[in-house]
Amino acid sequence: MKEDLENIRAAALRDLETAETESAIEEIRVRYLGRKGELTAVLRGMGKVSPEERPAMGALVNRIKQEVEGGIGTSLDRARAAERSRRVASERIDVTVPGRRPQLGRIHPLTQITNELVGVFVGLGFSVAEGPEVEDDYHNFEALNFPADHPARDMQDTLFVEGGRVMRTHTSPVQIRVMEERKPPLQVIATGATYRHDSDATHSPMFHQIEGFMVDQGITFADLKGVLTRAVRELFAADCPVRLRPSFFPFTEPSAELDIGCFACGAAGGACRMCKGTGWIEVLGSGMIDPNVFEAVGYDPEQVSGFAFGIGVERIAMLKYEIDDIRLFFGNDLRFLEQF
Ligand code: PHE
Repeated sequence: MKEDLENIRAAALRDLETAETESAIEEIRVRYLGRKGELTAVLRGMGKVSPEERPAMGALVNRIKQEVEGGIGTSLDRARAAERSRRVASERIDVTVPGRRPQLGRIHPLTQITNELVGVFVGLGFSVAEGPEVEDDYHNFEALNFPADHPARDMQDTLFVEGGRVMRTHTSPVQIRVMEERKPPLQVIATGATYRHDSDATHSPMFHQIEGFMVDQGITFADLKGVLTRAVRELFAADCPVRLRPSFFPFTEPSAELDIGCFACGAAGGACRMCKGTGWIEVLGSGMIDPNVFEAVGYDPEQVSGFAFGIGVERIAMLKYEIDDIRLFFGNDLRFLEQF
């Protein structure tokens, strides 16, 4: 029996020597010290030992049990330390590795130009209004002095929708909507999408305008010239030459287009592509609000006067950033968008 015990002791300690994981050690504990374990089996056989030998044998069993338990403790410590260093090694974080840069979004160039223009006019005392993109004929045309069948409607390449309505061809209907609801003095701008049946390198079926108008007693063409000159100079250059050129819009009389001196050729013209040799670049349409428009909204044209203007946002952005194809704004190509 003593020999059996020595063998068990040696085997247990040898097994513990090579056990590497906590679960392997637990298996060893069960195998030798568990309720059905080898050492326990020997203890059960104590009954067969003679009473004289029993105390010595009992002491030996206890010593071996303690020894095996001690070995288990040591092995566990070793296995846990090994496991810890394995984990530390595998979870190691190299804090010196450069991080992944998050992709930064950018404000769309058209939104940037819109914000810039709105900022200029808000600085001049204008407030901002909005109107619907699907308009009725009355606000888009009739009230703006485009009579039915008037040839000026052809200028607009209108997109029609169901119910006799149109995609607004300009932001001018917002003038009507604001004047219907409010009384002068008014100093308002409106921005938004506009639609025309037209598509090429400089025309998009959906584009954006900024409309502005000022109505009060005694507003003159000098106010139009002063406000618009100030605004385009803030937008382009403080010393940029400005001229007003006679034009036509049904809802303004007189009407004028505003040109700035070409910044590409220094207004020299010649073979300049930007201004097609004229030395001037058209930036907006404007005019004194037609008395018929005031009558449509219930204002007395004898009492009030005003001017209005409309700016093409894409056109300004193309001029400012020297972009030659309007479709780039709507292609969502990051290589294009990331330049702004
Ligand atoms: N609504 C005109 C257009 O789209 C622009 C404009 C607005 C002209 C206001 C004069 C006054 O062409």
